Amino acid sequence: MKAFVLGASILALAIPLSVAAQDKAPEPPLWAFPVTQPVGPPSKVVDQKLPGSSVKLSEEALKDRTTAVDWFPKAHPAMPPAVKGGRSDVFACGYCHLPNGNGRAENADLAGMPLAYLTQQLADFRSGARTLMDSHFGPAGNMIITAGQTSEADGVEAFKYFSKLPYVSHVKVVETADVPKTTPNGFLYEFNKGGQREPLGQRIIEGPDDFERFEMRDPRMTFTAYVPVGAIARGKALAKGDGSARPACEGCHGVGLRGGIVGPPIAGRFPTGAFRQFYAFKIGSRNGPGAAFMKPIVANLSERDMIDLAAYVGSLPSSAQKAKPSRPN
Ligand code: HEC
Ligand code: HEC
Repeated sequence: MKAFVLGASILALAIPLSVAAQDKAPEPPLWAFPVTQPVGPPSKVVDQKLPGSSVKLSEEALKDRTTAVDWFPKAHPAMPPAVKGGRSDVFACGYCHLPNGNGRAENADLAGMPLAYLTQQLADFRSGARTLMDSHFGPAGNMIITAGQTSEADGVEAFKYFSKLPYVSHVKVVETADVPKTTPNGFLYEFNKGGQREPLGQRIIEGPDDFERFEMRDPRMTFTAYVPVGAIARGKALAKGDGSARPACEGCHGVGLRGGIVGPPIAGRFPTGAFRQFYAFKIGSRNGPGAAFMKPIVANLSERDMIDLAAYVGSLPSSAQKAKPSRPN
């Protein structure tokens, strides 16, 4: 209960942070910020197990954002204090980004990101160089508050941990004209059961393949991102650059976008996450030293260009994968 009260006050505190970003046009589209209240795990999961895990967790433990939910303690090294949690007034990094650093579509995957990049991002959140890009987006507001409560030293310990974990992409990018009907839930989309579909239009609709397991914070959860037909090929062409103002993405993000000297590895990461970051650079809510490289890149990209690039980036195998495993649609 305590964690929820804390969460509500954090959300309220976070809203004024967005003012600076909102003063500037263009506004990011609302579909990229599914507006909802955070939801808890369904009560029927109390003391139930995940497939393959011998851990049992109470509903209370699943809801407690000050402690990482750890279904598979042997599947990763020991977590440093900030990741594992334990302070009654601070959220645990591992609660949102998960103990394996695989993250979720409404936050970010930190596994396999370079130590220096992650450390700089935390500094940017703490200094206000990275602000909230949309006042509806509670998780990012909570990230900013948590960053303010985390010392640089604790951040470095957390990032030494996350940067060494392999990042295995767990999102499947599917091109389609229509999508299963969805309900915005937990700041992403829940795919409704029942087979009804609706036109996708110019959007990316991303959500977990099993919402209950998602809410149980299953670190092995897979996601699907539905993107417009032709988006991946168009994104691939855009990624080659335009020969002048917009250099090729690989020039900085490395071969296969698996990380370069300047740019972090982005291959296989969440398409809605990439899309939101393009907007953050565009509207100036992401303003740290590294953002100077991305601002000219996004300056002349349309919303559709950003959808296509995000689809392409997400469709690539990550650095810990040779190819993306195929899963049924
Ligand atoms: C309430 C959930 C939540 C918690 C707890 C949380 N984060 Fe985050 N984190 C997010 C969200 C959401 C984002 C994406 C923010 C955005 O897009 O602006 C993010 C982004 C980040 C990024 C930027 C990643 C990138 O590729 O740009 C870093 C670094 C980070 N978090 C580190 C941490 C650390 C360290 C902790 C613990 C001290 C932590 N986070 C705790 C939700 C959370
Ligand atoms: C001139 C170098 C450069 C080029 C070219 C470049 N990027 Fe970046 N990119 C960066 C840097 C540096 C960052 C980290 C920004 C920061 O620290 O805020 C970044 C960040 C990003 C992020 C956010 C990653 C995260 O985890 O938050 C995405 C997504 C991204 N770039 C995609 C692209 C795409 C797609 C292209 C090609 C259209 C591209 N970039 C071209 C240098 C570059």
